[in-house]
Amino acid sequence: MENVMIMEHPLIKHKITLLRDKNTGTMEFRNLIEEITMLEAYEAFRNLPLKNVEVETPIEKCISPKIDGKKMVIIPILRAGMGMVNGVHAMVPAAKVGHIGLARNEVTHEPESYYCKLPSDISERLAIVLDPMLATGGSAVEAVNYIKEAGGSHIKFMCIIAAPEGLEKLAKAHPDIEIYVGNLDRGLNENAYICPGLGDAGDRIYGTLG
Ligand code: PRP
Ligand code: URA
Repeated sequence: MENVMIMEHPLIKHKITLLRDKNTGTMEFRNLIEEITMLEAYEAFRNLPLKNVEVETPIEKCISPKIDGKKMVIIPILRAGMGMVNGVHAMVPAAKVGHIGLARNEVTHEPESYYCKLPSDISERLAIVLDPMLATGGSAVEAVNYIKEAGGSHIKFMCIIAAPEGLEKLAKAHPDIEIYVGNLDRGLNENAYICPGLGDAGDRIYGTLG
């Protein structure tokens, strides 16, 4: 699949293993989500354009590169995507943040929308969409639909765990976006949960399990 990048970095693999462990508690889980996101953002931002600018060091003037092109907007899919925001902000502190609220219906597994607030200048920004889990792909496809309807055109989607079904659905529905995946898992179970996955990401981030 074009425009899909699956992470190979040993640090990301190691931290995802810790994340999967059912004995990993809420605080450690949240920290790991943030750390993995930071490492993934490092990979996802490799192709950002640069332009040379003049800078004066304490020694002399020189020409040195700075990030060029569009400013960014970070767009978490609520709730679980919120856990990834600080990881991207650590790299790009000036980025704006938009929010898309989607909750998967437990029976149909279709996303139901309850909130959407995006910056009015979204068409001039690179949108970084965040959700740790890409399962059936319904939520991610819907979120990108909203962003495009609002005028966004340059979009990167970052997740931590993906199922092949969801990855294929998102890449087919939106072939123009770049998709970054921490790990591609085996598939979905009868409840549309990712296997082996890590369980319910939102519940594990916010401690609302059980
Ligand atoms: C989870 C997850 C994704 C979605 C993935 O959120 O964070 O948003 O499910 O599933 P999909 O690819 O099949 O659409 P959920 O709807 O459980 O909401 P939450 O983040 O508020 O827990
Ligand atoms: N949402 C989650 O949080 N986990 C899954 O495995 C699937 C959807």
